[in-house]
Amino acid sequence: MAQDLAGETVLITAGPTHEPIDPVRYLSNRSSGRMGYALAEAALRRGAKVILVSGPTALQPPAAAETIFVETAQQMRTAVLDRWEQASFIIMAAAVADYHVKNISPEKIKRKAALELQLEPNPDILADLGSLRHATGKRSPVLIGFAAETEDLLENARSKLTRKRVDAIVVNDVARTGIGFDSGRNEVTIVTPSEVMAVPEAGKLEIAQKILEAALRIRQQQVAPVPASTSSADL
Ligand code: C5P
Repeated sequence: MAQDLAGETVLITAGPTHEPIDPVRYLSNRSSGRMGYALAEAALRRGAKVILVSGPTALQPPAAAETIFVETAQQMRTAVLDRWEQASFIIMAAAVADYHVKNISPEKIKRKAALELQLEPNPDILADLGSLRHATGKRSPVLIGFAAETEDLLENARSKLTRKRVDAIVVNDVARTGIGFDSGRNEVTIVTPSEVMAVPEAGKLEIAQKILEAALRIRQQQVAPVPASTSSADL
């Protein structure tokens, strides 16, 4: 395996988040964490240092990765924002819950006729990083997000690309059965501002390698680092 990520630090988010309702219940989604863990393994094999920020999963993280376990989107955000500046590549494969419960009950909620939960939107970690990266004058990390879509795949990916100011969006068609969620296999499309790359169905480790190859190509296309005296905020 080419050691083309030697000397690089890759920050990866993986898995779902759990948003507590009360001490025993939470809101979540069907992410198994396998795509993010496969990315961590693939990056290690290419010689990278890997920081894996993981939501709750049943998986064993690669021993060589520095793994930070989190539960909620807020915790994931803190873990990512504390470490993103160490990274030259950031791949956000986590399926972050869109909402958290406004008033978490300190006691287990008793069953009653109907229950209303008030939900508030979670911070968008990827979009926050996109803005932060844009605002710093330094050479910025390659930033890649995921999108799980059931319709208008490319259109949604393009809109996310510009809205979240990222270098690429990896689109999963979650309407298809047998791949994607909770499966060892996947089929994705990598969308950048200039390219649409279809990656045919394969094991997630193989898909992960294709995503890393795309990330390396993006890095090669980036402009050379700007001297410290010049602001690159508008680049
Ligand atoms: O907008 P949507 O949730 O579909 O975007 C998916 C991408 O954004 C994924 O890369 C995911 O990790 C990231 N995301 C995030 N914080 C959120 C929601 C999504 O970082 N609150």
